[in-house]
Amino acid sequence: MSTENTADAKAFTEELAGSVTGVGLVWAQTSGGVIGKDGDMPWNLPEDLLHFNRLTMGHPVIMGRKTWLSFPDKYRPLPGRTNIVITRQKGWGESPEAEGAVVVPSLDDALLESQFVDGGETVWILGGGEVFRQSTDLANVAVVTTIDVEADGDTFAPELGETWEAATAVPPDGWLTAANGTKYRFTKWVRTAG
Ligand SMILES: NC(=O)c1ccc[n+]([C@@H]2O[C@H](COP(=O)([O-])OP(=O)(O)OC[C@H]3O[C@@H](n4cnc5c(N)ncnc54)[C@H](OP(=O)(O)O)[C@@H]3O)[C@@H](O)[C@H]2O)c1
Repeated sequence: MSTENTADAKAFTEELAGSVTGVGLVWAQTSGGVIGKDGDMPWNLPEDLLHFNRLTMGHPVIMGRKTWLSFPDKYRPLPGRTNIVITRQKGWGESPEAEGAVVVPSLDDALLESQFVDGGETVWILGGGEVFRQSTDLANVAVVTTIDVEADGDTFAPELGETWEAATAVPPDGWLTAANGTKYRFTKWVRTAG
């Protein structure tokens, strides 16, 4: 990644981290909209993990049980953030798999819980596909990393309907280039109505 690229990407993330309040969605997808395959993500982009951590650090994060389980044990819970996990399974919260999570039975409960923890003025919904599909009418911002790869997947980014518009992108045209050569771009979407 060039120095100029690095500076632009870092500035974009830091500006968002310092300005977004309310409910944000954050995800990474291929150009074709794939966000997951077999419980994992079909790319390797350390620059996106850095962006994700800078953006969400200090704030509660909400995710579905399957996304929680997609994290390697050593990254669970995500440090510096209250990890709120939703499941319909009664009793799962007492299982060893749930250790380190605040487990709640619905998205509404997750949003409520997020208001009682540190950094709750901004809450980030991390997915996955099932949870994103329920969240596009309640979030005000979506921060999307688009990765210029073709990959098969079983989980897809949500449709952001006509109430959403792309506000800014880095770079405005073309791609950033990661150290490993992967091309990617950050876009901030805002919900304008609905
Ligand atoms: N690229 C990215 O940025 C990104 C981000 C996140 C995840 N992912 C990928 O996405 C995949 C996982 O996504 P997914 O769609 O399969 O699953 P998911 O959305 O992470 O989790 C689905 C589970 O969440 C619980 N759930 C969902 N809605 C609920 C509700 N309204 N109330 C209570 N519980 C609810 C249910 O758990 P129970 O079955 O326990 O009831 C459901 O099975 C993985 O491949 C992961 O790597 C990618």
